[in-house]
Amino acid sequence: GHAESGDDVHLLKPGQKRKLRSQLWFDNPANPGMTALYLERYLNFGLTREELQSGKPIIGIAQTGSDLSPCNRHHIELAKRTREGINAAGGVAFEFPVHPIQETGKRPTAALDRNLAYLGLVETLYGYFLDGVVLTTGCDKTTPACIMAAATVNIPAIVLSGGPMLNGWFNGERTGSGTIVWHARQLMAEGKLDYDGFIELVASSAPSVGHCNTMGTASTMNALAESLGMTLPGCAAIPAPYRERGQIAYETGKRIVDMVWEDLKPSDILTREAFENTIVVNSAIGGSTNAPIHVNAIARHIGVELDVQDWETYGHKVPLLVNCQPAGKYLGEEFHRAGGVPAVVAALMEKGLIHENAITVNGRSIGDNCRGKLTLDADVIMPFDAPLKAEAGFLVLRGNLFDNAIMKTSVISEEFRLRYLSDPKNPNAFEGRAIVFEGPEDYHHRIEDPSLGIDENCMLFIRGTGPIGYPGGAEVVNMQPPAELIKRGVHALPCIGDGRQSGTSGSPSILNASPEAAAGGGLSILQTGDRVRIDLGKGEANILLPVEELNRRRAELAAKGGFPIPQHQTPWQEIQRSMVDQFDNGMVLKPAVKYQRVAQS
Ligand code: FES
Ligand code: MG
Repeated sequence: GHAESGDDVHLLKPGQKRKLRSQLWFDNPANPGMTALYLERYLNFGLTREELQSGKPIIGIAQTGSDLSPCNRHHIELAKRTREGINAAGGVAFEFPVHPIQETGKRPTAALDRNLAYLGLVETLYGYFLDGVVLTTGCDKTTPACIMAAATVNIPAIVLSGGPMLNGWFNGERTGSGTIVWHARQLMAEGKLDYDGFIELVASSAPSVGHCNTMGTASTMNALAESLGMTLPGCAAIPAPYRERGQIAYETGKRIVDMVWEDLKPSDILTREAFENTIVVNSAIGGSTNAPIHVNAIARHIGVELDVQDWETYGHKVPLLVNCQPAGKYLGEEFHRAGGVPAVVAALMEKGLIHENAITVNGRSIGDNCRGKLTLDADVIMPFDAPLKAEAGFLVLRGNLFDNAIMKTSVISEEFRLRYLSDPKNPNAFEGRAIVFEGPEDYHHRIEDPSLGIDENCMLFIRGTGPIGYPGGAEVVNMQPPAELIKRGVHALPCIGDGRQSGTSGSPSILNASPEAAAGGGLSILQTGDRVRIDLGKGEANILLPVEELNRRRAELAAKGGFPIPQHQTPWQEIQRSMVDQFDNGMVLKPAVKYQRVAQS
C-alpha cells in the first residue's frame, strides 16, 4: 500500500472532501520525487496540474471496443459522452484499452480470453491512479471479464452497456444474431440455400453497430449486469444507435464521480441478494446457458457463496416472460420499447421474487428503481401468469457422466418433447445409444458417416470441449443431426457434452458438464454404443453400465496416461490450463480467487 501518503482524512473540516486514492500518485508533498515522476508524463498531452492535483476524482473508462471488437466498437463514440459526463460532475477521465474479446473473431474461442482480459484489467485498476471506473461492456465475455476485475479490485465501478444492434430483417422476417445461423444451416442442409445466399441471410442480422440483438449471451450478460445493480436503470436494453444510448453514457459518466465521493463499491452492490435476483431475472429473460459460468465467476471474485445448484433452486420454476429470440420471436428493439430489464424486475417484484433492498449503482435499491415500471407491451414482456413458457430456468443433472451439468428446459421444442418426453409411463425420461465425438473437428468429420448408424434413438455426445480440453470451453454442444435425419424431419437429437453452447442457440442440450473429460469426469470413459439414460424428473444422467465396468475403463484410461489434452498453441493456453477451474465453479483462475478487495490493501 501507500501508507506513506499520510492520513489527511482525519484533518478534514465538515463538508470538505476527503483525499482520494489518485492523490497518492499525483499530490503527495511527502514524496516530491515520486509525485513529480507520476505527474510529468500525464502533463505531456495537455493535462494541467490543476486537473491532476486539485483532488478531482480520476475516472477510468475501460475501453473494450476496437476494430477487432465490432460488437463493442460503438464504445469508442460513446466514451466521448461518458467523458463529458465525468467532466460535468467534476471528474477527470482516463480512457484505456482492455484486451479485446470478440466472440465471432477469436480462435480457438473467445472464452479463452475472458480470464486474460480479467487479469489485465485487475492489474490496470490496481496499479494506476484510478478512483473509479466505467466498465464498457457488450460482446459476451466482455461483461463478465470487466465485472470480475472490478470485483477483485473493488474500487467504485459502473457498467455501461454498448447496447444491441438494431433488429435484422430479411424478406420481411426478423433475423436475429446467431439464431439465424442455426436456421441458415438447416436450410443449407435441406438444399434450399447456396453459399452466397447463406452469407447474405446471416449478414442481414447485423444491420448496425452494437452487440447481438437476440437474447444470446451478450444481451443476457448486460441484462444481468443491470439486475446485479451494476448499471443505471434501463441501461442494458437500449439499442446501440438510439439517442438514449448516448444519453445514458453521459449519465453513467456523471454518476461514477458521485459514486467515488460516496465510496459506493462493488462489494456494496454484489451481495448474495443481488445474485439471487439475477438468477431469477435470467430465467425470466430466457438467459443464456453461459450465464451461470460468468455470474458464478463474478460471485467468486467478490467472495459471495454461489453454486450451480442455486440456479435450479432459485431459477428453475421462474417462467419465461421475455418473448425474444432464440426462445421467442422478437429482438432487442422490441425488448427496449417494452421496458427492458426494469419491466421484467417489476413483474417479478409483484410475485415477491426480488430482494427489493439490494443496492444499485445509482445509490437506490432495485425495488425503488423498478417498482411499478410494468411493461406496456404484454406480447414482448408477457404476464407472469400467462408467460411464454413455464419453468424457464435451468435443471441441474447429476450422475456417473458428470458431477453436474445444466439443461435449459425452456427451449425444448414441441417436436423434441413429442419424440423424447411423451412416454406416458415415464414422461420425463429417455434412453438412447451414445455417439461420442472427440471435439468439434471430429464431429464435423464424422457426423455424416453412415457407418455410425445415427437415428432418432441416438444421443450425440461431445467431449474434450471444456475449460481445459478445448481450451476455454467451446460452444459446440448443440450438434445438428446428420442431413439425412433432418430431411426426415428430425431437427434435433439429444446433445450432451462438456462444452458450452451459444446463447443464441435454441437447443435443449445438456452442457457445461463438470468435471469435463479432460479433468477426469465420467464423459472420459463413455464409448460409442453405450446405453445412456436421462431422467429430467430425477435430475439424473447415467451410463447404463455396472460400476465394475466403469471402474475397469477408468483404470484402463489411467494406465494410458489419462484423457488426452491437445498441444498448447500459445503461452496463455498453457498457463490457463494449469490453473483454471471447471464450469460449475465459474471457470475462474483458481489462484486469483484469494485476491479480494485488493485496492484497500
Ligand atoms: Fe459479440 Fe454476439 S458476437 S455480441
Ligand atoms: Mg457465443
